[in-house]
Amino acid sequence: MQFFIDTANLDEIKEALSLGVLSGVTTNPSLVAKENISFHDRLREITSVVSGSVSAEVISLKADEMIEEGKELAKIAPNITVKVPMTPDGLKAVKAFSDLGIKTNVTLVFSANQALLAARAGATYVSPFLGRLDDIGQNGLDLISEINDIFYLHNIETEIIAASIRHPMHVTEAAMRGAHIATIPYKVLLQLFHHPLTDQGIEKFLADWNNRKQ
Ligand code: E4P
Repeated sequence: MQFFIDTANLDEIKEALSLGVLSGVTTNPSLVAKENISFHDRLREITSVVSGSVSAEVISLKADEMIEEGKELAKIAPNITVKVPMTPDGLKAVKAFSDLGIKTNVTLVFSANQALLAARAGATYVSPFLGRLDDIGQNGLDLISEINDIFYLHNIETEIIAASIRHPMHVTEAAMRGAHIATIPYKVLLQLFHHPLTDQGIEKFLADWNNRKQ
């Protein structure tokens, strides 16, 4: 499973890149709204430092408008993935992007049927939202397993991005259940590195080294 970072904040992206584990970036309108900069300018900045997939979401809701918007986004850099909401119009747009060779990420996926429809429309990625399903009392991780089983059974190449990740256990479980990618907030990415026994171990090694017989 690869790691994407789920943010539009350039400092967080640069920090995550410097850790050497980052394969891509996802943004959404809420994340972009937190930044005080034009969306296209931020995408130019992100794609100048990230070579992997950078998801940029359309705001339009009608297929023809999504297609125009997505084409403009795709012009920014070759690694832009156009992110499209899971609606009938969204999937019409995904089909058009797929025919044009533009990569897509179908977002706001909350059921296996939605994921299968998105894949059949030609989506490069589907993004099931774990945390938001957990929030309403459904097991988001079970959805990853269902989509993974279906895609495996039917030889579907669309990749699963585990999204709406809230904590490190989501990451471990998403990997075990077959997600190809987890898109993770910066805070959770940092949490993955830490374990109290690692910190204690470093302290003990250093203390023993400093007390060694000369
Ligand atoms: C995925 O692409 C979305 O940007 C994101 O994971 C949504 O997460 P949230 O439910 O924490 O807003």
